[in-house]
Amino acid sequence: MPTTCVVGILWGDEGKGKVIDYLATETDFVVRFGGGHNAGHTLVLPTGKLVLHLIPSGIVHPHTVNVIGNGVVVDPIHLCGEIDKLQKRGLDVRLGQNLLLSERAHVIVEAHRRQDQWTEAQRGSGKIGTTGRGIGPAYADRCARIGLRLGDLLRPELLQRALAAFAAQKNAWFEPAGLAPVDVAALGQELAAAGDKLRAGIVDAGAVLRRAHAAGKRILLEGAQGCLLDLEHGTYPFVTSSHASTGGAFSGTGLPPHAMRTVGIAKAYATRVGEGPFPTELKDDLGDKLRIAGNEFGSTTGRPRRCGWFDTVAVRYSGAVSGASELVLTNLDVLRGFPLKLCVGYRLPDGGRTSELPAFDLDRVTPEFVELPGFGEDLREVRRFDALPANAQRYVQAIEQHTGLPIRTVSVGPERQQVILR
Ligand code: IMP
Repeated sequence: MPTTCVVGILWGDEGKGKVIDYLATETDFVVRFGGGHNAGHTLVLPTGKLVLHLIPSGIVHPHTVNVIGNGVVVDPIHLCGEIDKLQKRGLDVRLGQNLLLSERAHVIVEAHRRQDQWTEAQRGSGKIGTTGRGIGPAYADRCARIGLRLGDLLRPELLQRALAAFAAQKNAWFEPAGLAPVDVAALGQELAAAGDKLRAGIVDAGAVLRRAHAAGKRILLEGAQGCLLDLEHGTYPFVTSSHASTGGAFSGTGLPPHAMRTVGIAKAYATRVGEGPFPTELKDDLGDKLRIAGNEFGSTTGRPRRCGWFDTVAVRYSGAVSGASELVLTNLDVLRGFPLKLCVGYRLPDGGRTSELPAFDLDRVTPEFVELPGFGEDLREVRRFDALPANAQRYVQAIEQHTGLPIRTVSVGPERQQVILR
């Protein structure tokens, strides 16, 4: 099957960057289909660590064409900075050649960031814990039909018209709310300058991808965040504002729905950054220990990630919603020396039991666990499944059994070669 979609199975940060980097060695196109620079995809390359926020992880492979799809919200100033940073690291980034940007992708501007931070402050203790990058407001403006698109940056008249409509809507409430108003002239200049820099890359990316698909090219669709942060299927309202699960892969690229393999990336334990329900969260010393062992600090905001046990109920749900046919299990090495527990069901507030993820009151369920014996060995140099300690093998097999998803790939470290294929 020439198209593969890679999605995070819980709340993001499962290690998609490494898996995409690995899969991209045999791929012609790597396409981001949603989210923005709220994402942080970490690659550990022979030359050191590289964190990508907006540019697809295939950029480190000279032969791949990397596409920022129409479903992504693009901060053009951030994008120019990310391109500069990669070029300074000696990476070959050529707009219009190995980096294409959809002309339909919506634009994030400074006003969106102000709005994001203001809205969070208004929510008080009910805050979402967003990354503060303006992602939600940019998507909201897309729905409100006052958004700016990358293609507008190349068309001075359209840009002026779009900016005037945008500023009229924003300033009607920004000023009374005490937010700095949108300065149309300054923003227009800034966006036109960014448009000039990005011009060669701004194309009808959907048409390029449809042609590539028709020609049998291998396409890798790179999800951002994770299925439980999906606007529709996640732990609403504690979600991001895009369709982070597989549903976003077609609408966010312009590819028609076609047969595709979906791979879900799951960490060997669970993490979440930001607010929202997390049934298996460890709020004790063990959680702190796991955070340190796994270096669980956000790659975009640096915030400490909340850590907890592997939740087979949530993973099975996300597997079903995303259509994943397999899981890649990451960070198994981190569990060295830890007791092992899998959540296999939830006790509901009314005393009932479920093994389905409820749409409401997830913060009020009590997880039910099975315990498994842990392992004390260092896994980082292991390259064959049957060379893993028996208890690590049992843990992987138990996850397969409880989620119903096969695990053919296990990652035992951040580096490209620290992988076990079964
Ligand atoms: P937003 O996407 O900045 O609006 O944030 C909404 C929620 O998604 C917050 O809980 C964020 O912490 C979370 N989030 C957004 N992007 C990522 C990511 O790449 N990894 C993990 N969590 C994320």
